[in-house]
Amino acid sequence: MAEDDQMANVKFQPGKKFGEWVIKKRLDEGGFGQVYLVENGKKEKGALKAESNEVEGGSAIKLETMILKQLNKNGPVPHIPTVYHAAKRNKYCYMVMMLLGDNLKHLKTDQPKERFTRGTWSRVGIQCLYSLKYLHDCGFIHRDIKPQNFVMGHPEDGARSRMVHILDFGLARPFASFDEKRKKWVARKARGSAEFRGTLRYTSPNVHLRKEQGRVDDVWSLLFVLIELNGGLPWQTEKERDKVEQMKMSLDNRTVMQNMPICMGNILPHLHSLDYYQRPDYHLFFKSLWQVMLNEKITPTSKYDWESPEQEENAKKFKPADWEKPEGPYFSSDPIGINGPPEGPAANSENPNNDGGLKSGEDKSKSNSKPAKNWLQVSPSLLSVQSSGGTVKFTMKNEHFEPIVYKVKISNVENYRVNPVFGIIQPKSSAEVEVVRTAGAIKIDRIVVQFGNVTKGETSTDAQKVFSTIKDTDRLTVPISAVNK
Ligand SMILES: Nc1ncnc2c1ncn2[C@@H]1O[C@H](COP(=O)(O)OP(=O)(O)O)[C@@H](O)[C@H]1O
Ligand SMILES: [Mg+2]
Repeated sequence: MAEDDQMANVKFQPGKKFGEWVIKKRLDEGGFGQVYLVENGKKEKGALKAESNEVEGGSAIKLETMILKQLNKNGPVPHIPTVYHAAKRNKYCYMVMMLLGDNLKHLKTDQPKERFTRGTWSRVGIQCLYSLKYLHDCGFIHRDIKPQNFVMGHPEDGARSRMVHILDFGLARPFASFDEKRKKWVARKARGSAEFRGTLRYTSPNVHLRKEQGRVDDVWSLLFVLIELNGGLPWQTEKERDKVEQMKMSLDNRTVMQNMPICMGNILPHLHSLDYYQRPDYHLFFKSLWQVMLNEKITPTSKYDWESPEQEENAKKFKPADWEKPEGPYFSSDPIGINGPPEGPAANSENPNNDGGLKSGEDKSKSNSKPAKNWLQVSPSLLSVQSSGGTVKFTMKNEHFEPIVYKVKISNVENYRVNPVFGIIQPKSSAEVEVVRTAGAIKIDRIVVQFGNVTKGETSTDAQKVFSTIKDTDRLTVPISAVNK
């Protein structure tokens, strides 16, 4: 079914009734559905989100409702909206939820020079991190962290009006479950590879490597969101998928963080050191943002960029929010206690193709996950790649401490060979591969390298043997123009 028709299923006119709720006007539209302002007989307001049942994989509203109810199971919590009502109809699903205010993308666009002041930015960042950690502490990862999925509370909603809320759980996935017998949280086993999920601009390098996303990847996306809200990402204006991917994979930390406050410098190296199971250091992130707030001589109650002086005055009446504590105790708390792979039976080992039956990301190019035939596939989050005159050099980035193994292949292109085909790259060193044109003049602009981590404890230097033991090979495409010369 065409996308227009899917949207037509959820285009409602003012006056249409959903139980006690009546449509007043449209508020916004997302990748898959429509969001409306609704009101009930008691003049209470809400937001109704509707999604066609005919979108690929079905509507995610049911999943969203389930997650939101789970997040609020002990009563309403800060930074999380509540659900009032949800239902399925023939052509669509809908839910009515707490009415919130504007999203961070709109708020940013409305600012002079389209950027927040650091005083606003740092406090927004802390609150986004708060909401994300809360989601993680309930066992879910979001997988679509972006400015449109964070919204302020409604301006008429008291203390909530100054609170960032996290939204849109359509791509969320449990990464852990509570084992009732053992009375503890157990990590869900990572799949060997996973489909691309998320929005191209904000996904972490791991997502480009088709790795299972964990808490680290949400936090990574949040860092990208904050870099964008602070002025822009290096790939901000780049639309081509391959170029974005290549930039994310090859730029060093300093370039990615170039316009960011210096006190945020230790976050990226930390994220690079984590795997799917490990718990990100939320407190480290909090402390850097709090420091930015202090440097700006801003307090938690200072005016936000979009607020009027009256709103600032009004804000002093509210009791301090939970994040407004210099020591940030919330950010060091770890109610889940997972920081490594599961011991004993894992929660939900499963078919690698099963993504939980959720909808696909707004990035419609996800089906491009297979690289073109004659591409060089590498794992650039760990390696930087240079090529010149037929030689390709891979250098291990400083943050990586374990040897990795590579395998080079030029598929479906005759008259070329690579030398060597297999190899191991040791930490802080490089490997060179020669690309030799044996005959003819076929032009290739990309070749392929696969790589994987050497299994822990593996000492063999026989790269081919090591490679055959690697379960989780990763690929990425990198254009290598120089090999044609
Ligand atoms: N409860 C709400 N109150 C106010 N605006 C909302 C609410 N929920 C969503 N919106 C607006 O609608 C947009 C799309 O909602 P979202 O849940 O992200 O849908 P999608 O899954 O289609 O992206 C958001 O970016 C936000 O601006
Ligand atoms: Mg959204």
